[in-house]
Amino acid sequence: MIHSIAVLGAGIMGHGIAHAAMTAGFDTRLFDVSEKALALARTQIESIGKVGVERGKVTSSEVTDTMERLTLYQDIASAVDGVGLVIEAVPEQMDLKLALLNDLEQLAPQQAIIASNTSALSLTEMSAALSNPGRAVGMHFFNPVHKMKLVEIVRTSDTTSETVQTIEEIGRRMGKETVVIRESPGFVTSRINATIGNEAFFMLQDGIASARDIDKALKLGLNHPMGPFELVDLVGLDTRLSVLKFLHRTLGEKYRPCPLLEEYVQAGRLGKKVGKGVYEY
Ligand SMILES: NC(=O)c1ccc[n+]([C@@H]2O[C@H](COP(=O)([O-])OP(=O)(O)OC[C@H]3O[C@@H](n4cnc5c(N)ncnc54)[C@H](O)[C@@H]3O)[C@@H](O)[C@H]2O)c1
Repeated sequence: MIHSIAVLGAGIMGHGIAHAAMTAGFDTRLFDVSEKALALARTQIESIGKVGVERGKVTSSEVTDTMERLTLYQDIASAVDGVGLVIEAVPEQMDLKLALLNDLEQLAPQQAIIASNTSALSLTEMSAALSNPGRAVGMHFFNPVHKMKLVEIVRTSDTTSETVQTIEEIGRRMGKETVVIRESPGFVTSRINATIGNEAFFMLQDGIASARDIDKALKLGLNHPMGPFELVDLVGLDTRLSVLKFLHRTLGEKYRPCPLLEEYVQAGRLGKKVGKGVYEY
Protein backbone atom coordinates (compact mmCIF):
# COMPACT_ATOMS: atom_id res chain seq x y z
CA MET A 1 0.00 0.00 0.00
CA ILE A 2 1.50 3.32 -1.08
CA HIS A 3 1.11 6.28 1.30
CA SER A 4 3.65 8.77 0.02
CA ILE A 5 4.67 10.02 -3.38
CA ALA A 6 7.72 12.09 -4.30
CA VAL A 7 7.45 14.31 -7.36
CA LEU A 8 10.80 15.42 -8.78
CA GLY A 9 10.77 18.74 -10.65
CA ALA A 10 8.27 21.43 -9.64
CA GLY A 11 7.67 23.03 -13.04
CA ILE A 12 4.61 23.12 -15.29
CA MET A 13 3.94 19.40 -14.81
CA GLY A 14 5.50 18.73 -11.42
CA HIS A 15 3.27 21.15 -9.53
CA GLY A 16 0.16 19.73 -11.23
CA ILE A 17 1.16 16.13 -10.49
CA ALA A 18 1.88 17.06 -6.87
CA HIS A 19 -1.58 18.65 -6.67
CA ALA A 20 -3.18 15.46 -8.05
CA ALA A 21 -1.27 13.34 -5.51
CA MET A 22 -2.26 15.60 -2.59
CA THR A 23 -5.89 15.62 -3.65
CA ALA A 24 -5.87 11.81 -3.83
CA GLY A 25 -4.79 11.77 -0.17
CA PHE A 26 -1.09 10.93 -0.53
CA ASP A 27 1.64 12.44 1.61
CA THR A 28 3.27 14.43 -1.22
CA ARG A 29 6.91 15.53 -1.38
CA LEU A 30 7.82 17.98 -4.11
CA PHE A 31 11.53 18.26 -4.91
CA ASP A 32 13.30 20.79 -7.13
CA VAL A 33 16.84 22.13 -7.42
CA SER A 34 15.40 25.64 -7.64
CA GLU A 35 13.98 27.36 -4.57
CA LYS A 36 12.17 29.78 -6.86
CA ALA A 37 10.46 26.92 -8.74
CA LEU A 38 9.30 25.41 -5.43
CA ALA A 39 7.87 28.71 -4.20
CA LEU A 40 6.07 29.26 -7.50
CA ALA A 41 4.74 25.68 -7.44
CA ARG A 42 3.23 26.23 -4.00
CA THR A 43 1.55 29.44 -5.20
CA GLN A 44 0.19 27.66 -8.29
CA ILE A 45 -1.15 24.75 -6.22
CA GLU A 46 -2.79 27.20 -3.81
CA SER A 47 -4.35 29.01 -6.72
CA ILE A 48 -5.87 25.76 -8.14
CA GLY A 49 -7.47 25.27 -4.70
CA LYS A 50 -8.71 28.86 -4.57
CA VAL A 51 -10.39 28.59 -7.98
CA GLY A 52 -11.91 25.25 -6.90
CA VAL A 53 -13.45 26.95 -3.84
CA GLU A 54 -14.76 29.88 -5.95
CA ARG A 55 -16.41 27.39 -8.32
CA GLY A 56 -17.90 25.39 -5.44
CA LYS A 57 -15.97 22.23 -6.33
CA VAL A 58 -14.18 21.99 -2.96
CA THR A 59 -14.57 23.63 0.43
CA SER A 60 -11.87 25.85 1.89
CA SER A 61 -11.34 23.41 4.74
CA GLU A 62 -10.75 20.60 2.20
CA VAL A 63 -8.17 22.82 0.50
CA THR A 64 -6.48 23.48 3.86
CA ASP A 65 -6.34 19.73 4.57
CA THR A 66 -4.98 19.06 1.09
CA MET A 67 -2.25 21.71 1.46
CA GLU A 68 -1.10 20.03 4.68
CA ARG A 69 -0.15 16.96 2.65
CA LEU A 70 2.46 18.94 0.68
CA THR A 71 6.12 19.27 1.72
CA LEU A 72 8.73 21.03 -0.40
CA TYR A 73 12.31 19.78 -0.63
CA GLN A 74 15.59 20.94 -2.09
CA ASP A 75 17.30 17.83 -0.80
CA ILE A 76 16.50 14.72 -2.84
CA ALA A 77 17.57 12.21 -0.19
CA SER A 78 14.96 13.50 2.28
CA ALA A 79 12.33 13.88 -0.46
CA VAL A 80 12.43 10.20 -1.48
CA ASP A 81 13.09 8.71 1.95
CA GLY A 82 10.50 5.95 2.58
CA VAL A 83 8.23 6.80 -0.37
CA GLY A 84 6.28 4.16 -2.32
CA LEU A 85 6.28 5.99 -5.64
CA VAL A 86 8.58 8.52 -7.28
CA ILE A 87 7.34 10.48 -10.31
CA GLU A 88 10.03 12.40 -12.12
CA ALA A 89 9.05 15.53 -14.05
CA VAL A 90 12.41 17.18 -14.72
CA PRO A 91 13.16 18.67 -18.18
CA GLU A 92 12.99 16.38 -21.20
CA GLN A 93 16.72 15.56 -21.40
CA MET A 94 17.89 11.97 -21.16
CA ASP A 95 21.20 12.79 -19.42
CA LEU A 96 19.33 14.71 -16.71
CA LYS A 97 16.79 11.93 -16.21
CA LEU A 98 19.50 9.24 -16.13
CA ALA A 99 21.48 11.17 -13.52
CA LEU A 100 18.34 11.42 -11.40
CA LEU A 101 17.57 7.70 -11.79
CA ASN A 102 21.11 6.86 -10.71
CA ASP A 103 20.49 8.92 -7.56
CA LEU A 104 17.16 7.16 -7.03
CA GLU A 105 18.80 3.74 -7.29
CA GLN A 106 20.92 4.78 -4.29
CA LEU A 107 18.45 6.89 -2.33
CA ALA A 108 14.88 5.67 -2.90
CA PRO A 109 13.53 2.48 -1.27
CA GLN A 110 14.35 -0.56 -3.42
CA GLN A 111 10.66 -1.52 -3.69
CA ALA A 112 9.49 1.99 -4.70
CA ILE A 113 7.95 2.32 -8.15
CA ILE A 114 9.91 4.75 -10.30
CA ALA A 115 7.69 6.57 -12.79
CA SER A 116 8.64 9.10 -15.43
CA ASN A 117 6.39 11.78 -16.86
CA THR A 118 8.51 11.93 -20.02
CA SER A 119 6.58 13.05 -23.09
CA ALA A 120 8.43 10.71 -25.41
CA LEU A 121 11.83 9.49 -24.22
CA SER A 122 12.71 5.80 -23.87
CA LEU A 123 11.69 4.30 -20.54
CA THR A 124 13.83 1.25 -21.32
CA GLU A 125 16.92 3.46 -21.58
CA MET A 126 16.03 5.16 -18.30
CA SER A 127 15.25 1.93 -16.48
CA ALA A 128 18.73 0.59 -17.29
CA ALA A 129 19.91 2.81 -14.41
CA LEU A 130 17.88 0.65 -12.02
CA SER A 131 18.97 -2.77 -10.78
CA ASN A 132 15.28 -3.80 -10.89
CA PRO A 133 13.80 -2.42 -14.14
CA GLY A 134 10.47 -4.12 -13.34
CA ARG A 135 9.58 -1.13 -11.16
CA ALA A 136 10.08 1.46 -13.92
CA VAL A 137 7.01 2.76 -15.72
CA GLY A 138 5.82 5.76 -17.69
CA MET A 139 3.16 7.87 -16.05
CA HIS A 140 2.39 10.47 -18.68
CA PHE A 141 0.16 13.25 -17.38
CA PHE A 142 -1.22 16.07 -19.51
CA ASN A 143 -1.13 19.83 -19.11
CA PRO A 144 -2.83 21.31 -17.11
CA VAL A 145 -2.87 18.24 -14.91
CA HIS A 146 -5.84 19.30 -12.77
CA LYS A 147 -8.05 19.62 -15.87
CA MET A 148 -6.83 16.78 -18.09
CA LYS A 149 -8.46 13.41 -17.54
CA LEU A 150 -5.88 11.01 -19.00
CA VAL A 151 -2.76 9.31 -17.72
CA GLU A 152 -0.96 7.32 -20.41
CA ILE A 153 0.75 4.41 -18.66
CA VAL A 154 3.78 3.18 -20.58
CA ARG A 155 5.25 -0.24 -19.91
CA THR A 156 8.59 -1.56 -21.11
CA SER A 157 9.22 -5.27 -21.73
CA ASP A 158 10.54 -5.40 -18.12
CA THR A 159 7.76 -3.50 -16.31
CA THR A 160 5.89 -5.98 -14.10
CA SER A 161 2.11 -6.36 -14.23
CA GLU A 162 2.06 -5.54 -10.51
CA THR A 163 3.72 -2.18 -11.23
CA VAL A 164 1.17 -1.43 -13.98
CA GLN A 165 -1.78 -2.40 -11.75
CA THR A 166 -0.53 -0.23 -8.89
CA ILE A 167 -0.13 2.76 -11.22
CA GLU A 168 -3.62 2.18 -12.70
CA GLU A 169 -5.04 2.20 -9.18
CA ILE A 170 -3.14 5.38 -8.21
CA GLY A 171 -4.29 7.03 -11.45
CA ARG A 172 -7.89 6.20 -10.53
CA ARG A 173 -7.41 7.61 -7.02
CA MET A 174 -6.18 10.81 -8.66
CA GLY A 175 -9.45 10.93 -10.60
CA LYS A 176 -7.85 10.06 -13.95
CA GLU A 177 -8.67 7.63 -16.76
CA THR A 178 -5.77 5.46 -17.88
CA VAL A 179 -4.60 3.71 -21.03
CA VAL A 180 -1.72 1.22 -21.10
CA ILE A 181 0.75 1.55 -23.97
CA ARG A 182 3.65 -0.68 -24.99
CA GLU A 183 6.75 1.47 -25.14
CA SER A 184 7.30 3.10 -28.51
CA PRO A 185 8.75 6.55 -29.30
CA GLY A 186 6.24 9.25 -28.42
CA PHE A 187 3.72 6.69 -27.15
CA VAL A 188 0.30 7.45 -28.68
CA THR A 189 -0.46 11.03 -27.70
CA SER A 190 2.94 12.72 -28.07
CA ARG A 191 3.58 11.14 -31.47
CA ILE A 192 0.27 12.28 -32.93
CA ASN A 193 0.36 15.65 -31.21
CA ALA A 194 3.93 16.44 -32.29
CA THR A 195 3.07 15.49 -35.87
CA ILE A 196 0.06 17.85 -35.98
CA GLY A 197 2.08 20.62 -34.30
CA ASN A 198 5.02 20.25 -36.69
CA GLU A 199 2.70 20.32 -39.71
CA ALA A 200 1.16 23.54 -38.38
CA PHE A 201 4.63 25.16 -38.17
CA PHE A 202 5.39 24.10 -41.78
CA MET A 203 2.11 25.72 -42.88
CA LEU A 204 2.97 28.91 -41.00
CA GLN A 205 6.49 28.90 -42.47
CA ASP A 206 5.09 28.42 -45.99
CA GLY A 207 2.67 31.33 -45.49
CA ILE A 208 -0.38 29.15 -46.04
CA ALA A 209 -2.29 30.90 -43.25
CA SER A 210 -1.69 32.98 -40.13
CA ALA A 211 -1.16 31.28 -36.76
CA ARG A 212 -4.57 32.55 -35.63
CA ASP A 213 -6.31 31.14 -38.71
CA ILE A 214 -4.57 27.76 -38.45
CA ASP A 215 -5.68 27.57 -34.80
CA LYS A 216 -9.19 28.67 -35.74
CA ALA A 217 -9.40 26.10 -38.56
CA LEU A 218 -8.54 23.20 -36.28
CA LYS A 219 -10.80 24.39 -33.48
CA LEU A 220 -13.90 25.14 -35.52
CA GLY A 221 -13.38 22.78 -38.45
CA LEU A 222 -12.00 19.72 -36.65
CA ASN A 223 -13.41 20.33 -33.19
CA HIS A 224 -10.00 20.43 -31.48
CA PRO A 225 -10.44 22.17 -28.11
CA MET A 226 -7.25 24.19 -28.71
CA GLY A 227 -5.35 25.20 -31.83
CA PRO A 228 -1.87 23.67 -32.38
CA PHE A 229 -0.14 27.00 -31.66
CA GLU A 230 -2.15 27.69 -28.52
CA LEU A 231 -1.22 24.20 -27.40
CA VAL A 232 2.50 24.43 -28.19
CA ASP A 233 2.65 27.75 -26.31
CA LEU A 234 1.21 25.94 -23.29
CA VAL A 235 3.45 22.87 -23.64
CA GLY A 236 6.62 24.89 -24.28
CA LEU A 237 8.28 25.17 -27.69
CA ASP A 238 11.55 23.78 -26.27
CA THR A 239 9.75 20.68 -24.93
CA ARG A 240 8.01 20.17 -28.30
CA LEU A 241 11.32 20.56 -30.17
CA SER A 242 13.01 17.93 -27.97
CA VAL A 243 10.14 15.52 -28.63
CA LEU A 244 10.36 16.05 -32.39
CA LYS A 245 14.15 15.64 -32.42
CA PHE A 246 13.75 12.36 -30.59
CA LEU A 247 10.99 11.12 -32.95
CA HIS A 248 13.13 12.16 -35.92
CA ARG A 249 16.10 10.21 -34.55
CA THR A 250 14.08 7.10 -33.73
CA LEU A 251 11.27 6.99 -36.31
CA GLY A 252 12.71 8.77 -39.33
CA GLU A 253 12.51 11.69 -41.71
CA LYS A 254 8.75 12.28 -41.42
CA TYR A 255 9.37 13.78 -37.97
CA ARG A 256 12.15 16.29 -38.83
CA PRO A 257 11.42 19.45 -36.77
CA CYS A 258 10.26 22.41 -38.83
CA PRO A 259 13.04 25.06 -39.15
CA LEU A 260 10.62 27.77 -37.97
CA LEU A 261 10.11 25.93 -34.67
CA GLU A 262 13.91 25.69 -34.23
CA GLU A 263 14.22 29.40 -34.98
CA TYR A 264 11.59 30.33 -32.35
CA VAL A 265 13.34 28.22 -29.72
CA GLN A 266 16.71 29.81 -30.55
CA ALA A 267 15.10 33.23 -30.19
CA GLY A 268 13.88 32.29 -26.69
CA ARG A 269 10.23 32.17 -27.75
CA LEU A 270 9.52 29.19 -25.51
CA GLY A 271 5.82 29.76 -24.91
CA LYS A 272 3.52 31.05 -22.22
CA LYS A 273 6.02 30.25 -19.45
CA VAL A 274 8.30 33.07 -20.70
CA GLY A 275 5.52 35.38 -21.90
CA LYS A 276 6.23 34.83 -25.58
CA GLY A 277 5.91 31.85 -27.93
CA VAL A 278 3.99 31.79 -31.20
CA TYR A 279 1.81 34.42 -29.48
CA GLU A 280 2.67 37.15 -26.97
CA TYR A 281 1.18 37.07 -23.46
N1 LIG B 1 4.84 20.85 -20.45
C1 LIG B 1 3.97 19.94 -20.84
O1 LIG B 1 2.89 20.26 -21.36
C2 LIG B 1 4.25 18.48 -20.63
C3 LIG B 1 3.21 17.54 -20.77
C4 LIG B 1 3.47 16.19 -20.49
C5 LIG B 1 4.74 15.79 -20.11
N2 LIG B 1 5.74 16.72 -20.01
C6 LIG B 1 7.07 16.24 -19.56
O2 LIG B 1 7.20 16.56 -18.18
C7 LIG B 1 8.58 16.79 -17.88
C8 LIG B 1 8.72 18.16 -17.23
O3 LIG B 1 8.26 19.14 -18.14
P1 LIG B 1 7.78 20.58 -17.64
O4 LIG B 1 7.10 21.18 -18.79
O5 LIG B 1 7.10 20.47 -16.33
O6 LIG B 1 9.21 21.30 -17.44
P2 LIG B 1 9.54 22.66 -16.66
O7 LIG B 1 10.74 23.22 -17.32
O8 LIG B 1 8.32 23.50 -16.49
O9 LIG B 1 9.93 22.15 -15.19
C9 LIG B 1 11.06 21.35 -14.92
C10 LIG B 1 11.49 21.61 -13.48
O10 LIG B 1 12.54 20.71 -13.17
C11 LIG B 1 13.49 21.37 -12.37
N3 LIG B 1 14.75 20.66 -12.46
C12 LIG B 1 15.74 20.77 -13.39
N4 LIG B 1 16.73 19.88 -13.09
C13 LIG B 1 16.33 19.22 -11.98
C14 LIG B 1 16.91 18.18 -11.20
N5 LIG B 1 18.09 17.64 -11.52
N6 LIG B 1 16.25 17.76 -10.11
C15 LIG B 1 15.04 18.30 -9.77
N7 LIG B 1 14.44 19.28 -10.46
C16 LIG B 1 15.08 19.71 -11.57
C17 LIG B 1 13.51 22.78 -12.91
O11 LIG B 1 14.01 23.69 -11.91
C18 LIG B 1 12.03 23.01 -13.22
O12 LIG B 1 11.36 23.59 -12.12
C19 LIG B 1 9.33 16.64 -19.20
O13 LIG B 1 9.82 15.33 -19.30
C20 LIG B 1 8.25 16.89 -20.24
O14 LIG B 1 8.54 16.28 -21.46
C21 LIG B 1 5.53 18.05 -20.24
